[in-house]
Amino acid sequence: MKILAIVGSLRKDSFNRQLAQEAKAALAGKAELEILDYHDIPLLNQDIEHPAPEAVAKARAAVTAADGIWFFTPEYNHFFPGVLKNVIDWLSRPQDGGKPQVLAGKPAAVSGITPGMSGTGLAQDHLVTLISFLNMHVMNAPRLTIPNCLGMVKDGKLELGLSKKYLDTQASAFVEFINAEKK
Ligand SMILES: Cc1cc2nc3c(=O)[nH]c(=O)nc-3n(C[C@H](O)[C@H](O)[C@H](O)COP(=O)(O)O)c2cc1C
Repeated sequence: MKILAIVGSLRKDSFNRQLAQEAKAALAGKAELEILDYHDIPLLNQDIEHPAPEAVAKARAAVTAADGIWFFTPEYNHFFPGVLKNVIDWLSRPQDGGKPQVLAGKPAAVSGITPGMSGTGLAQDHLVTLISFLNMHVMNAPRLTIPNCLGMVKDGKLELGLSKKYLDTQASAFVEFINAEKK
């Protein structure tokens, strides 16, 4: 089983990217997890939509090849970041030649981590509204919200501690969710 992680942060030491890396370990033996590198996707401009820029075509191919998409989102001003909206907007568009958009029907899981107290719950709610509109099949429970993460960071590295069991639970649940969707 292949799971594609889409992280809503371009920051090198992103806590959400580190959480995605922890998820890769949590899935070991059950599924492979690849983190989508989309730093070179341009801002969406319909003037450059067709033919799709190479970075967009690569992202669409990665989504198409995946059995499920796991979003890891920061919270910016009680919303998910614009970089994540931009990549989802690209993925939401019909492909070159009129082929349908690639997100529809894909199983999706949502997680997030923040130094703040909200745990990214508000950002996740907005993200779920968007990806549901795009007809992704969202695993609404469990979702993972990790607040106050600075206490879990040692020398810039995230150490999940007590939260690890919740990530493990979500990883197992997502594998089951994807398998159930295939039936
Ligand atoms: C523009 C901006 C707005 C932010 N708004 C929030 C917020 O609403 N809630 C929150 O918990 N953290 C907020 N933060 C702090 C982010 O959670 C923090 O920078 C986090 O480390 C970003 O995720 P990353 O580590 O994956 O890059 C904000 C940060 C920025 C840059």
